[in-house]
Amino acid sequence: MNLRINKYPKYLIDISLASSLKNFTKDKNTSLDIGCGDGELLTELALNNPSKYFIGLEIKYGRIVKSLKKAELNKLKNLKFIFCDANLLIKEIIPKNSLNKVFINNPDPWPKDKHEKNRLINSNFLMNLHEIIKRRGFLYIKTDDKKYMKIIKKEITKTRFATSTKKSLFDKTLPNTKFQKLFLKENKKIYSLKLQKK
Ligand SMILES: C[S@@+](CC[C@H](N)C(=O)[O-])C[C@H]1O[C@@H](n2cnc3c(N)ncnc32)[C@H](O)[C@@H]1O
Repeated sequence: MNLRINKYPKYLIDISLASSLKNFTKDKNTSLDIGCGDGELLTELALNNPSKYFIGLEIKYGRIVKSLKKAELNKLKNLKFIFCDANLLIKEIIPKNSLNKVFINNPDPWPKDKHEKNRLINSNFLMNLHEIIKRRGFLYIKTDDKKYMKIIKKEITKTRFATSTKKSLFDKTLPNTKFQKLFLKENKKIYSLKLQKK
């Protein structure tokens, strides 16, 4: 079958091959963007940080294809994507203690209580993330949804993450994502959290 995704094999990580993921994380400074959308943030980060490595994870087919196109257009050697469900990837596939930074920007908030089970971030998910982040590595979470951020903060108290208030130069120059640019245009507040694995 002629799938659009197969046009970009250089930029796709094949999760059925352990070596494919290991080669992009072992002895490297690697960041993962969960729910990377169209790959805008990572393309910019990969262009600005050529010695660092970036992986985008996305569950929507159209969005992963757009991300792959951007990586190819910019001929980026330090950016790859995974087409997969975050729950599976984090729990079963990514090697433990392998990531320097993880970003979750604007996870779908599922505001209705009856859809609570669809929310990506809960204490189990956070504990699995804690496992795959290196010691002293960081988890960044941003959302425009005040209620979701409150829930996330409560879930964090059940984990071993510590809140970090220090802002590095990297943090200060972190580009806005596509959704964050839209929120800012609408004058919406963006809530943000930086957590560290101690
Ligand atoms: C609101 S969008 C934000 C996109 C991007 N991070 C941004 O800020 O512009 C949320 C993204 O998360 C993705 N997503 C939702 N659940 C996911 C899951 N279980 N695994 C991977 N990606 C997921 C969606 O497909 C969507 O692209």
